Amino acid sequence: MTDTEIKKGLAGVVVDTTAISKVNPETNSLLYRGYPVQDLAAHLPFEAVALLLWTGELPTESELKEFQEFERGHRTLDPKVKQAVDLLPIDCHPMDVGRTAVSVLGANHPKAEDSSPEAELEKAKALFAAFPAVVAYDQRRRRGQDVVEPNPELDYSANFLWMTFGEEQPEEVVDAFRVSMVLYAEHSFNASTFTARVITSTLSDLHSAVTGAIGALKGPLHGGANEAVMHTFDEIGIRKEESREDAAARSKAWMEDALAQKKKVMGFGHRVYKNGDSRVPTMKAALDRMIEHYGRHELLGLYDGLEQAMDEAKRIKPNLDYPAGPTYHLMGFDTEMFTPIFIAARITGWTAHIMEQRAANALIRPLSAYDGPDQRELPAA
Ligand code: COA
Repeated sequence: MTDTEIKKGLAGVVVDTTAISKVNPETNSLLYRGYPVQDLAAHLPFEAVALLLWTGELPTESELKEFQEFERGHRTLDPKVKQAVDLLPIDCHPMDVGRTAVSVLGANHPKAEDSSPEAELEKAKALFAAFPAVVAYDQRRRRGQDVVEPNPELDYSANFLWMTFGEEQPEEVVDAFRVSMVLYAEHSFNASTFTARVITSTLSDLHSAVTGAIGALKGPLHGGANEAVMHTFDEIGIRKEESREDAAARSKAWMEDALAQKKKVMGFGHRVYKNGDSRVPTMKAALDRMIEHYGRHELLGLYDGLEQAMDEAKRIKPNLDYPAGPTYHLMGFDTEMFTPIFIAARITGWTAHIMEQRAANALIRPLSAYDGPDQRELPAA
């Protein structure tokens, strides 16, 4: 061993600058290009937030309209993607489907190897537009249903739900979904974004970087937590007719037991935020609206009980995945689809970081401290 100080998991290490987002754990705030995320979530369509992340500025009305037209023109499920997805096992994880779809889209993009800023922006926009059809189709094929063609009358968020469920969703549901997309869009140097930057730093292409990022996002310590939250709810048992109080009592007891067994409970804790995740209040408000809309107060009971017991025992707060999981469940998404929805949102942040990395690139190649055996001789033959 050496006496070099090792920062396991790069905890606390600042590896580069970024102008895309600022996470401030002291004030529990998150800014995208200087704008508080809760303000963006309250007022802007997701398409406008995507443009902000990519270009650094809010779009003018005509820029937004132009991008929305582009998005509507690129949202049909690519037949080559459908063919590749159909080759995958019906029970493989939907994150594997998302990862494969991005890879296929990359291989078929006419500018696959062009990494000029103009080509990268065009590829980012096309990927943003194309990905919801992958999530929608994957959920449908698992249910034995056919593809639903996009609806050009609807914006990104409403159309995402349309292609998934085959019917228009009420405005408040579309709005809660839009809020979740804005909140999931970007979060500085998290594991998947850093993965995308590492891949870009080798001068690899945009789709390779996004494909690698999806691999990182799949893990339950990162994006996979929103799905894991729902598994916790399922394990406790969702009883539709139960009162909020009874549900809370059961989930509290479940959490006390889990913590006594030293289990890590997904949807709680964060590497950066130690006093609460800046995105949770906005997402929780959206969850509350969905609870009212669907009349499912027992879910709120399960939610409150876990949160209270965790706070009392360890003072650990929920992260964004905690309110997002039950929100997607109420909307009708299958649990395994939650993290692919996160991909659709985070494509914006990843691709913004890919462009930023490329603009001021340095190969990311850290050092390691060797702690294996000293040099030794092969045994005599
Ligand atoms: N459930 C139970 N205990 C938790 C916990 C959780 N979700 N998150 C942290 N802790 C505890 C750890 O057990 C540890 O306790 P100890 O000091 O008694 O051993 C302490 O809090 C520090 O945890 P640690 O894992 O070292 O913190 P970290 O900064 O490395 O981890 C996470 C951050 C996100 C990996 C971690 O909180 C976690 O695994 N959360 C669950 C997964 C999740 O929701 N991920 C989504 C993140 S947005």
